[in-house]
Amino acid sequence: MVTLRRRTLKVLTLLVLFAFLTSFLLSYSHTVATTAWLPRQLVLELSDSFRRLVAFPRRPCTCARCVGQRRVSAWFDQRFNQSMQPLLTAQNAFLYEDTYPWWLRLQGEKQPQDLNATFRELFEVVPGGVDPLLEKKAVGCRRCAVVGNSGNLRASWYGPHIDSHDFVLRMNKAPTAGFEADVGSKTTHHFVYPESFRELADNVSMVLVPFKTLDLQWVVSATTTGTISHTYIPVPAKIKVKKEQILVYHPAFIKYVFDSWLQGHGRYPSTGILSVIFSLHVCDEVDLYGFGADSRGNWHHYWENNPSAGAFRKTGVHDGDFESNVTSALASIHKVRIFKGR
Ligand SMILES: *[C@@H]1O[C@H](CO)[C@@H](O)[C@H](O)[C@H]1NC(C)=O
Ligand SMILES: *[C@@H]1O[C@H](CO)[C@@H](O)[C@H](O)[C@H]1NC(C)=O
Ligand SMILES: *[C@@H]1O[C@H](CO)[C@@H](O)[C@H](O)[C@H]1NC(C)=O
Ligand SMILES: *[C@@H]1O[C@H](CO)[C@@H](O)[C@H](O)[C@H]1NC(C)=O
Repeated sequence: MVTLRRRTLKVLTLLVLFAFLTSFLLSYSHTVATTAWLPRQLVLELSDSFRRLVAFPRRPCTCARCVGQRRVSAWFDQRFNQSMQPLLTAQNAFLYEDTYPWWLRLQGEKQPQDLNATFRELFEVVPGGVDPLLEKKAVGCRRCAVVGNSGNLRASWYGPHIDSHDFVLRMNKAPTAGFEADVGSKTTHHFVYPESFRELADNVSMVLVPFKTLDLQWVVSATTTGTISHTYIPVPAKIKVKKEQILVYHPAFIKYVFDSWLQGHGRYPSTGILSVIFSLHVCDEVDLYGFGADSRGNWHHYWENNPSAGAFRKTGVHDGDFESNVTSALASIHKVRIFKGR
């Protein structure tokens, strides 16, 4: 009896080990398969995978095609930097010498509060621990929908398709109530800055995109004392979003999007392109909805009725044309899919 049990245990151990090794090899076979089977190359590939696994314990991606996969396009590999961290945490809350002055210039802040002190106050309020988006998840293929606000979503009937994704990212004033058939009803992450804030449902994570020090101070104030009610326009003094649901986009990641992806076009990136590049870093598959003009060339929001509204295309701040070229280029190499609507 005892020997039998011991043998069963041995067999089980071997099976577990085998399963582990197989899944490890399978997870990385997509990287390896694209390369010629030169031993040296293989060793480099494996050690590279291992290094990444240690440095960035990301979920091994099990999709047929994974967005972060390299050696698909030289254009992509030149721009995509896997080590850039999209979210600000207590551990990575500092800006390099070249990043800080650049970030301060975005909205011409004259007398910003000390940034380190602001970071400290911020992380007394919002969670500063592990980046929840990079945490290991059971799901091996994370599918994301990034939903822009274009009028091309009108009468698109994309709702159920959008809702079928693991993550649904929306931005700024975007409503879903009343537009569910076309834009869906699910939201997991909503990108805002103080001036574009809207109240969110209980289970939605707010991703604050800070364009200035005051934005970081605002999120502290809006969830506590409510003292900041005006930036360059009136902003909500108090918000209902729970502190635990607040994530902060890393200012250094904004600069990365600007330098690497926009090659310095425009004054700074729009929330739209910031969400798209963010998704390349946290998702395995990316589908874009509601980007670009509608079929008649109109630029407007899906919830507005004046088709000529579209000032945001040429605001002098963002280069909408260049940004849209970047998303088209991503689609042409099958890194993202663009659903053009109507
Ligand atoms: C990628 O990002 C890391 C971390 O910010 C940085 O140290 C490195 O220089 C970047 N690599 C490239 C090729 O820009
Ligand atoms: C902020 O903290 C960083 C280290 O995290 C330090 O290098 C920098 O000098 C500090 N800046 C100020 C203004 O204190
Ligand atoms: C969020 O809560 C609403 C109900 O309040 C629910 O219908 C929806 O499925 C929830 N969404 C997620 C992503 O859990
Ligand atoms: C976008 O791409 C088109 C076609 O490749 C090109 O003609 C145009 O100049 C690009 N626009 C910008 C702003 O780079």
